This record gives sequence, C-alpha cells and structure tokens, in this order.
Amino acid sequence: MRDLRNAGINPLTTTTSRRTLVAGSASAAIASSLARYGEAVAQDATPAVATPLAQGEAQLEIFSWWTTAGEAAGLDELFKAFAAANPDVEIVNAAVAGGAGTNAQVALQTRLSANQPPDSWQSHPGKELFARYVEPGYTDTVTALFDEQGWNDTFPQGVIDQVTFDGEKYLVPVGVHRGNVMFYNKQVLADNGIEVTDDWSMDDYFAAADTLAAAGIPSYAMGSKDTFAVVQLFENTLLANLGPDDYAKVWNGELGWDDERVTTSIENLARYFDSVNEDHPALTWDGAMDLVYDGKAAFQSMGDWAYGDALGKQKQDAIGWVNHPGTGGSFVSVIDGFTMPKNAPHPVNARNWLISAGSAEAQAAFAPFKGAIPARTDVDSSGFNEYMQWSSEAFSADSVVPSLAHGAAGSPQFLTSVNEAIVTFIVDKDVATFQEALQFAAEDEA
Ligand code: GAL
Repeated sequence: MRDLRNAGINPLTTTTSRRTLVAGSASAAIASSLARYGEAVAQDATPAVATPLAQGEAQLEIFSWWTTAGEAAGLDELFKAFAAANPDVEIVNAAVAGGAGTNAQVALQTRLSANQPPDSWQSHPGKELFARYVEPGYTDTVTALFDEQGWNDTFPQGVIDQVTFDGEKYLVPVGVHRGNVMFYNKQVLADNGIEVTDDWSMDDYFAAADTLAAAGIPSYAMGSKDTFAVVQLFENTLLANLGPDDYAKVWNGELGWDDERVTTSIENLARYFDSVNEDHPALTWDGAMDLVYDGKAAFQSMGDWAYGDALGKQKQDAIGWVNHPGTGGSFVSVIDGFTMPKNAPHPVNARNWLISAGSAEAQAAFAPFKGAIPARTDVDSSGFNEYMQWSSEAFSADSVVPSLAHGAAGSPQFLTSVNEAIVTFIVDKDVATFQEALQFAAEDEA
C-alpha cells in the first residue's frame, strides 16, 4: 500500500524529475481580476477568437485551486504522471488559492476573456462547466479523446452525462469527492460520551452539540471565511431534511424554495452557530479542520478533501468520519476534471496532459493524496485506504446527488446569489430573509 505519510511533502520543493514547477504565476492577475468581478461573469464574457502567439511546446500551464496540503499533494501526483511521459516539458503550476475555487474562477475568467487561457484548467462538471466555459466558447470538445482512449467504457455513465453538452464531452474527470461527510475529533467525542454512526440524525447531532456546549467545547468548527463551507453545510442540512428525491426536485424546479422543510433547514443552519468557534469569520475550511485535529472543536461537515488535508498534515489518526447527520444513503458528488481550451498556448502538451490525467495510473496515484476516489471504474482498489473504501462503497450503493456549493446543482448566477445571501445570514441569522433570497434567485433563473 502507498505510504500516505509522504503526503506531507511540499510538491513545490520536491525535485524528483527534470520538470520544473513554477508557482504563483497567476498571482499578478488576481488583484485586478477580483476588482473586475461582477455577477454572472461567464455569461457576459466574449468568446475567445484570436490565436495566441506561438510559444513552442516547452511548457504546460495548469490552472487549479489546489493549494492546501492534500490538494497540492494530489496535484503533484498528476504532475508526476505527466512528467514521466513528457520529461522535457516545464510544468507551470498556476494554482490560485481559495476553497472551492472562489478566487481561481475569478482570475481564470479574466484570463479567458482576454484570450490568455492556460493549457488546461480545473472545473466541476454540470452547470459550472457548461455556463462558465462551454457556452461562452472557451473549451474544445474532448469527445475524440474519449473515443481514442476508450474512456466511454471506463468512466461511469452518470459521470459522462455530467460532462456532456449537446452530445459533446468537455471535461476529463480525475476524481470524485463526497460532499456530505461529518468529520470529528475522536478523543473529544470519547471524552464526552458521544457516539456517532452513519445513520445518525439531525436531532442526534444537536443533542451532541448540547452536550459539548455544556462541557465548554465548540461543537462545530466553522471556517466561514470560505463562504462555500457554509453553503455546503446548508446543502447537506437541506439534503437531511428533504431526502435525496426531494433534494433533486429543488434543483429542477419541481419543489419550491418556500417548502417548510427548507425553513427547517435554515433554522438548523442557524443552530450550528450556537456552538461554534468564535474566530470562524477569519478561518478557511482547512483552518477549521485544524481545530478538529487539535480537539479545539468537535465536528466539521466537509467534503472528503478534508481527509486528504488530514493526511497531508499527518493528523488522520485524530479524526473519524460519518455521514452528515440525516444523509445516510445519499452521496453528494463533487467531481473534478480538466478542460481542453480553445487556443491553448501549448495544444500538444494540453492534449497529453488530459491523456495522462485520464489514465488509470494517474488517477490511482492522485486519489489517496487528495482524499478522493478515482473517477474511472477500472482502477485497482487494493491500495485504497479505509476512508477511500468507505467513500467508494457509498458511491456505488447510495443515491448520488449534485452539489450547489461545488457548481453542479445550480447555475453560477444562482450560486452567486446564494453566496451573497449566506454572507448576510452568517451575521443576522434571519431565516425568512434567507429563504426569500433563495426564492428570488430561483425566480431569476426561470
Ligand atoms: C472543491 C473541489 C475539491 C476541493 C474543494 C476545496 O470545489 O472540487 O477538489 O479542492 O473544492 O477547495
């Protein structure tokens, strides 16, 4: 089995091949791009038409938001796989920090609208991929690659469907994350006589939270500097109250946001804040995980990239995991993949990158560090750690539902509206106003 303790190695300082990693090359673009960011940036963007200056094929620039411990370690595994077949190509790591791509997507949009694409960029499938990149004309199809590489047989049909737009495929999936996981500090729960199972309920969670509050321990580690972390907590709570069938219906308009179970979910969301770390507005998701590792707070609901974070920091022995309360039997999927840009500066390298990232070998190497499971179904699972086995079994057996916080369930405009509303909610906990904002956002979509 792979030695996961190596996951803490800083990929930017590891020199194991002839390639060079150039970090932070996108940083100059970030400040100006943030300033220019407005609502629905993708929809307003002009399709790229001109061909960039020829730059030869000496480099490969890869754009992502994978900068935290497990994220960077996973990305480095993809780089190693590419470098093994392309040893003379300099890999430029253009990652822009910020959970769920909040900053990266802004910086990328500026580059795309200026016709300065990287050679490939990270995207989620579904609405994010289609609205931000496919419809505005920034991506080429990868349908031919799927045919050539035999990928139509190696990716699950449900995943292929999520990368397909008007009959063409536009993303090469590299890994599948589970979004509805509740991580916890094992010692804190043991010390307070709290037991949790995959079948626990929201009531069980709040009973545990009361016990912890009485003992003076924040029950929930919140990193609300990452707005996505609160949106994700909300969607997991919504799933708990609606169940997978009705959860799916709110995204296709069959169930209104005025449903009383939506109200309950928002009330639940407010309740998490009753017993939370005081510094939550200053912490990101991974900073909040540090509180869990150190026993300074008990729980955080997070995607399973948090397991990659724990491995990268060698804190995995401190934590346990169960389904987000009330969501047993459901798997909130958060899928990552890479695009083929139109006008890639190094199109041969871009193609080779996608071939490598889509391979069974690269996905087997990437997943344990990232905390994901491979997107392909034919990857040897004998080296999977206990966490991956758990997530993999759930992916096969559970109802798979999409995530709003990670781009698949709602459009970018809807997500932007929810992000804005939740920033206000974190401060005022006004249930009715937040629910109205959801309704207004849905009406704008219609
Ligand atoms: C998600 C992404 C994951 C992980 C997470 C936190 O959107 O799919 O790979 O990186 O954000 O940044």
